[in-house]
Amino acid sequence: MAVRSFVALELSEDVREKLTNLLNRLRQTNAAVKWVEPENLHLTLKFLGEVPEEQIEVIVDALRAVAQATEPFSFTVKGVGGFPDLRRPRVLWVGVEVTPPLMRLQQLVERTTEQLGFAPEERAYHPHITLGRIKAMTGVEKVRAVLSEYAGFNFGSVPVKHLTLFRSDLSREGPTYTPIALLPLSETASI
Ligand code: 2AM
Repeated sequence: MAVRSFVALELSEDVREKLTNLLNRLRQTNAAVKWVEPENLHLTLKFLGEVPEEQIEVIVDALRAVAQATEPFSFTVKGVGGFPDLRRPRVLWVGVEVTPPLMRLQQLVERTTEQLGFAPEERAYHPHITLGRIKAMTGVEKVRAVLSEYAGFNFGSVPVKHLTLFRSDLSREGPTYTPIALLPLSETASI
């Protein structure tokens, strides 16, 4: 059996609550958007895709080493945007500030998973937390109006104490994300 999985950082309850308030406002636009359930909000570091079950343990071990080589840090959730842009978006997101500790961790996860045989990410890493995926352009104007109020808004800072390997189970109701392993960062990281 294969397990659809990805490596991510979880949010603090404080930031999740602020994003939930924003999602509640966005839902009220009735736009044709599949909004992310609040409990599913996260910051992806690496999407692994379908992983053979027997490989999970190797990945967990490799991620444990990555986490142990990383000191705890915080990331700031700030601003909003869309992929490819907010004019004709397919994905709507809140931004995450690009800082050296976050990029270092993402690169380490990327390199480590590449060494395990996972496909390299072709696109540059733009840290973001997905809020919704556009189904049709209906109501996108209203969504843009709400989001424009949050252009420079600071949703807060998230202390990172561990990496999480999630499994993702897709169903008609939407995805369910379940932690497979929590890998603690190390106060005494050596590199
Ligand atoms: P997204 O939010 O920008 O869509 C679980 O699906 C997580 O993995 C999501 O955060 C998603 O990012 C990310 N991801 C990255 N590449 C993906 C891919 N090719 N398919 C599905 N999810 C992907």
